[in-house]
Amino acid sequence: MTSHTLRAGVLGCGDIARRGHIPGYRAAGVEVAAVCDANIDRARAVAADLNVPDVYADYHELIARPDIDLISVCLPNALHAEASIAALQAGKHVLCEKPIATSSADAERMIETARQAGTLLSVNQHMRFDPTAQAMRQAVCNGELGDLYLIDMRMVRSQGIPGYGSWFTNKELAGAGALFDIGVHMLDLAMYLAGFPQVAAVRGFTSMALGKQKIGLGSWGADRGTEGRYDVEDTAIAHITLTGGGVIRLIVTWAAFGLSEERITLFGDKGGADRSADRYGKETPLRFYKAINGKIEGFTPDLSCFPAGGTAGSIASFVSAVRGKRPLLVHPEETLTVLKMLEMIQRSAATGQEVTL
Ligand SMILES: NC(=O)c1ccc[n+]([C@@H]2O[C@H](COP(=O)([O-])OP(=O)(O)OC[C@H]3O[C@@H](n4cnc5c(N)ncnc54)[C@H](O)[C@@H]3O)[C@@H](O)[C@H]2O)c1
Repeated sequence: MTSHTLRAGVLGCGDIARRGHIPGYRAAGVEVAAVCDANIDRARAVAADLNVPDVYADYHELIARPDIDLISVCLPNALHAEASIAALQAGKHVLCEKPIATSSADAERMIETARQAGTLLSVNQHMRFDPTAQAMRQAVCNGELGDLYLIDMRMVRSQGIPGYGSWFTNKELAGAGALFDIGVHMLDLAMYLAGFPQVAAVRGFTSMALGKQKIGLGSWGADRGTEGRYDVEDTAIAHITLTGGGVIRLIVTWAAFGLSEERITLFGDKGGADRSADRYGKETPLRFYKAINGKIEGFTPDLSCFPAGGTAGSIASFVSAVRGKRPLLVHPEETLTVLKMLEMIQRSAATGQEVTL
């Protein structure tokens, strides 16, 4: 059990570091000792705005500090593996941003490094921490929904491309587009809710129809713009067959001719769950469905017993695990499984064939 005041260093000073990690650590009682960004002006601006004592341009220098216990990796996806491995080898606990890495081989190296170092590695799959996700997981575990035969995950963003020429739209730096950016959230959540079932086969489809036309630019990404490289998909669709007989259907888009929508629906043989703020309202976005005397009725659950979610909830949980108070909720091996599934979607999309294990 760690009792001293924990100190964190944050690598990358873009949007998620500024809005998520730095406030998240503070809320969890962790001191944010230093930040780093290759763009030193951005690091200085974040440090000044959020009152962080030290700044670095080279993350190796920050990692070398013996007084820092935790490292957040908030860098472009292709840097997750090398930065996490350097931090783990220096004896730090690491909370890496999603996706864990841009290849499953890299993720395996990260997991092995953490094992050898004896420190914790986790990934900010914050959607698991949403009270609605916790309520759905509890209902699945209690058997209230019975056997799940369809897990339907949709994150449709009408205008959400995070900038032409930013790392997000550059395959070398991002690994993939919408699939690795938001598909990873929805697939991780689907697998978590279903208890990480075995996958039998994957059929995937991707499209870069809108991004290439420069339609659908969103407001995320520190280096967003309207010019530059765009060689990733803006839409990914997958049909995943589970060995137990169920199906996960995934639809994610960064840009689409239609309304934005985020919807998670679980269909079981004893009940269902449906999360949609658009349909049920932001305050009570979750409904459970069950049969009463043969008639299907909807119920709004009380979510007040679940802690707050988001990146703050995810960081609070990670910090608790570092302090030895609670087990990790996001195991890196689970995020590796999800990454392997994302790679299967990519392979299937590239070949037009179903991919089996
Ligand atoms: N969990 C979530 O919901 C969520 C949301 C947004 C982003 N993310 C993830 O967080 C990570 C960062 O995303 P972002 O939106 O903050 O991106 P961003 O573009 O806003 O910030 C990335 C920062 O990294 C810096 N950087 C690049 N190379 C560097 C290097 N070698 N050394 C030091 N700094 C370097 C850039 O200058 C930039 O400031 C990505 O992996 C992304 O997928 C997660």
